[in-house]
Amino acid sequence: MIVGLPKEIKNNENRVALTPAGVFELVKNEHTVFVQKGAGFNSGFSDVDYTDVGASILDTIEEVYAKAEMIVKVKEPIAEEYGLIKEGQIVFTYFHFASSQPLTDAMIKSKSVCIAYETVEDKNGTLPLLTPMSEVAGRMAVQQGAKYLEKPIKGKGILLGGVPGVQPGKVLILGAGIVGVQAAKMAAGLGAHVTIMDVNMDRLRYVNDVMPSHVVTEYSNEYNIRRHIKTHDLIIGGILIKGAKAPKLITRDMLKEMHPGTVLVDVAVDQGGCMETTKPTTHEDPTYIIDDIVHYCVANMPGAVPYTSTIALTNVTLQYVINIANKGWEKACEDNEGLQKGLNIANGEVVYKEILENSH
Ligand SMILES: NC(=O)c1ccc[n+]([C@@H]2O[C@H](COP(=O)([O-])OP(=O)(O)OC[C@H]3O[C@@H](n4cnc5c(N)ncnc54)[C@H](O)[C@@H]3O)[C@@H](O)[C@H]2O)c1
Repeated sequence: MIVGLPKEIKNNENRVALTPAGVFELVKNEHTVFVQKGAGFNSGFSDVDYTDVGASILDTIEEVYAKAEMIVKVKEPIAEEYGLIKEGQIVFTYFHFASSQPLTDAMIKSKSVCIAYETVEDKNGTLPLLTPMSEVAGRMAVQQGAKYLEKPIKGKGILLGGVPGVQPGKVLILGAGIVGVQAAKMAAGLGAHVTIMDVNMDRLRYVNDVMPSHVVTEYSNEYNIRRHIKTHDLIIGGILIKGAKAPKLITRDMLKEMHPGTVLVDVAVDQGGCMETTKPTTHEDPTYIIDDIVHYCVANMPGAVPYTSTIALTNVTLQYVINIANKGWEKACEDNEGLQKGLNIANGEVVYKEILENSH
């Protein structure tokens, strides 16, 4: 199969969908790979890294789309790309169709085959192509939170790990899912005192089993949250309820209960956030202050660490890319129920029912 790797053109997207290791595997399986000039540059891969493993470099995005039978990407196509996508062409990327009717309409019109990373499932019904980005965001949440606790950026002026003779900082984590556990691991590693809350007792049991004793679990309810916000320095939101908006666990009135300079990192911002005062921010201008409380609500946190994020993402996408290339999309989906769940639009028809439910 002819596989095309375009450069991402969405604002501030520095990841790339295949590493040289991925191209190496595709070439080994006798596929042809066209890489757009500079596609891997912001993730640390030069054109030579790709040609060394057998790819050919093309100058423009138009040439890549024109030649490829399958396009492998990171972000959903943006308006400039709609017209480049051809009938029957496979596009394997994050789409998030539910949040964009114009994208859905454009892909139906293109008669392409859209397989969405975010709806591919594994045997346990979890979403393997979303997991690595939650891992990155969870770990980054502590790194960012620690930075914004510094006084010059209006934080409380607290070093999370403390020093001998001085208490460490306190981190409250809402949600003990992938984001929450990764955040807890990082915060614990810095020496902070960590409280992690969830309504799922199995998750709390897991955390209790695997984390050191300065990570404590507590059942999530309003009473407990109100109690803890008065004493914690960094509050991280990692809530997800599948198919629904996250509940607002931190309400506007609660900000008055917190110490000035407390930092809120709402990782769940991409689903609307789990804090009432959350509004999406960007890496250029990541924070804002309300009632002396610092808010960090960047919607694409992994974009700031493209080298790590690219490798983490491609580690999990590559096996599907190879399968689709080897078997064609129909056979690959037939053989793998989880990949079949990733098929959102094929040949002008929406096949993933949640898109139909959300379209208006
Ligand atoms: N901002 C970013 O760049 C970025 C990157 C990756 C993921 N995310 C987002 O982070 C969020 C978390 O993702 P995840 O992969 O960790 O999800 P997850 O499903 O692994 O974890 C979510 C957890 O929230 C818990 N929860 C639900 N209701 C709760 C409540 N009332 N109180 C306490 N806990 C509750 C669930 O039981 C679950 O354990 C999602 O919204 C995801 O989209 C954002």
